[in-house]
Amino acid sequence: ITVYSLIVKNMKCIIAAGGLGTRLQNFRDNKSTKILLEVNGAPMINHQIKQLNNWGFENFIIITNPEYSDLIQEVVKKAHSEFHIEFSVQDKPRGISHALQQAEHIVNNEKLFFVLGDNFFEKNPLEGFDLDEFKEGAYIFTKSVDNPKEFGVAQMDEGGNVISIEEKPEMPKSNNAVVGAYMFDESVFEKISTLQPSKRDEYEITDLCNLYVNNEKCKNFSIDGWWIDAGTPERIIELEEKLG
Ligand code: G1P
Repeated sequence: ITVYSLIVKNMKCIIAAGGLGTRLQNFRDNKSTKILLEVNGAPMINHQIKQLNNWGFENFIIITNPEYSDLIQEVVKKAHSEFHIEFSVQDKPRGISHALQQAEHIVNNEKLFFVLGDNFFEKNPLEGFDLDEFKEGAYIFTKSVDNPKEFGVAQMDEGGNVISIEEKPEMPKSNNAVVGAYMFDESVFEKISTLQPSKRDEYEITDLCNLYVNNEKCKNFSIDGWWIDAGTPERIIELEEKLG
């Protein structure tokens, strides 16, 4: 057993699974929630748990929306009774940082891995990451893309320190899209509690990361391999092809 696998096994992984998937309504008769959409015959959330378990995680907290909470629990428990999985409901869609906040009463004073339920990766983004060296701050993971405007966009200095992150900027300062996976230290909930809602009235994940950036405590890890944010019909089809 490596240090990596031991740390990951004990680390809590929080999955944001509350998104309604507005861009997927009526796609394949989808009337429910994005995370339950069938991808190659299985609900997206179960692919996500499988992916995370492939990276070594066994402890999960899934954040759901109120409407589909029971159904999501049923679907997950049926497929993955072997893992320790807890659930927490986000009462209103008030942003990704607010979704993460719903795990506060379940976690202890510990470091966390946070993933957006619709984000899928060819390779484990934590591969080559020395978890033992992660003492404080936050890590974001980025991938160079042609369409940075559609994502959070990060700018780094030569040492891999993040110097700015902007949410879906009109004029991106780089091509580095921030993918939906984050590592946070113990101060994360205290930081979330100081956030103000954005213009679109959400507690943004980018604003949370920027609190770490302002303290010079946010680092970047560039990922290899494909990455899909499966939020549109085209990207779901692409995901199905990649998963094969
Ligand atoms: C969210 C984040 C964005 C990030 C993206 C990754 O955007 O707000 O910073 O780059 O996830 O998938 P959304 O896809 O919810 O619009």
